[in-house]
Amino acid sequence: MILGVNVDHVATLRQARLGIEPEPVMAASLAILGGADGITIHLREDRRHINDRDLDLVRAFVPVELNLEMAATKEMIKIASRKRPDLVTLVPEKRKELTTEGGLDVRNARKTVKEAIKALSNSGIMVSLFINPSVEDVEISREVGADMVEIHTGCYANEKGGKQEKELARVIMAIKKATDVGLMANAGHGLNYYNVSGIAEIEGLRGLYIGHSIISRSVLVGIERAVREMKDLIWKSIR
Ligand code: PXP
Repeated sequence: MILGVNVDHVATLRQARLGIEPEPVMAASLAILGGADGITIHLREDRRHINDRDLDLVRAFVPVELNLEMAATKEMIKIASRKRPDLVTLVPEKRKELTTEGGLDVRNARKTVKEAIKALSNSGIMVSLFINPSVEDVEISREVGADMVEIHTGCYANEKGGKQEKELARVIMAIKKATDVGLMANAGHGLNYYNVSGIAEIEGLRGLYIGHSIISRSVLVGIERAVREMKDLIWKSIR
């Protein structure tokens, strides 16, 4: 089972000051030292966090799987074909959303998605579709020629108790369907240190893609050292 770490939120922090730190590529390197099997970045149309320079740097320095999340637009397909990430995950994109809110509407966007997959495959890039936990959406993903799917675990992550069990059952069914029809199956969104086990134990799963919870925890587990280093510097200066 692989773990792909999404470093978008490192860029979000940088963009809060429109400055130069922290660098997503440095976070990616450290995540790899920590055992990340892949790095994910989402290049959004509005470049609100990850930008084209980040993609260049990450492409140059990341030795593990580079997963580029993007919308199936002409601009993004052109960029991906030039930069050649190992994997493209096609996601829906709305300007005002805080994060990717749901899976791709593969039923209605069948033609666009199929054409995008064809173009990306011609450039030698594997394509994954981020879809809701629906057996029908898995079938459509296979029909349009995807190599793999990433099952949206957001509803599972947001629920508790019986409702969460129901959502888990939907995720399990979608993953089973994917492996039955010959698609590699991944899962992601909203996974954290408390809810990941329920998903990680699903049979047939290739990988998990996790961002927010890992970056959030890294702020907390790293803050003691960061403060100590700043205090050391201050005390050294006034001695
Ligand atoms: N997978 C996809 C397709 C996503 O869009 C995101 C969010 O950027 C993730 C996984 C990671 O979600 P989270 O940040 O909630 O772990």
